[in-house]
Amino acid sequence: MTWGLQNRVSRLMKDGRTVMLAVDHGYFQGPTTGLENPRRTVTPLLPYADSLMLTRGVLRTSVDPSQPLPIVLRVSGGTSVLKELSDEVVTTSMEEAIRLNASAVAVSIFVGSEHEKETLANLSETVNAGERYGMPVLAVTAVGREMARDARYLGLACRIAAELGASIVKTYYCEGFRKVVEGCPVPVIIAGGKKVPERDALQLAASAVKDGAVGVDMGRNVFQSSNPVGMIRAVRAVVHEGKGPDAAMQIFEKAPTPKLVR
Ligand code: R5P
Repeated sequence: MTWGLQNRVSRLMKDGRTVMLAVDHGYFQGPTTGLENPRRTVTPLLPYADSLMLTRGVLRTSVDPSQPLPIVLRVSGGTSVLKELSDEVVTTSMEEAIRLNASAVAVSIFVGSEHEKETLANLSETVNAGERYGMPVLAVTAVGREMARDARYLGLACRIAAELGASIVKTYYCEGFRKVVEGCPVPVIIAGGKKVPERDALQLAASAVKDGAVGVDMGRNVFQSSNPVGMIRAVRAVVHEGKGPDAAMQIFEKAPTPKLVR
């Protein structure tokens, strides 16, 4: 690993753990609930995240360039919810990622889907480009609509991502998650998935960390919460302080209710 790549990875995980705030959903979902106005959603959450995962469009239009948070730039896409999701291309060049001062780039792979091979090629080509500049690649193990999110399938996807050179892998929590982590020789983080009650999302994060994840890349369970700042603070307590879901839930419940920002 080059010094630059190592340095970028360590920006994302200062204590070896990370709370990545995912707000890239619009790249295929359009104006996702809670993210209709990205600036309004993201700004109050910035002080509590370790990094921000998003596309260049939302970064340029909705995030103040003077804010210090490391950026994880999504560079694969080109599909929409109306079409086959696995039919992605690389949308953003490595030079653009460097111009935007990204600390990592993110590419989705769809193992088991129609365009599996192309998405694995997207990852490999991005790793090759990243190696030239010391840019780590986060592989997002996306799940085809009909795929079971079980340890066998997710373990397969995570391992392939690591073998192709990803520096970090994002996947979903599942039964037998420890095996997924053990089979993946690079750090693993989990997505939050669809919005669930806050305590369930905190339980998910706590279980994932207990089973070896280095943190979360969480979106909807933060920004669709009734109190997004309270929720990200509770998630931080789980990831960085090892709090259990009950203790974290107290942090959520005691957090001041959000002011309506226009
Ligand atoms: C896919 O839409 C994205 O890569 C999301 O960033 C990822 O799924 C994490 O977001 P969530 O916690 O909402 O699942």
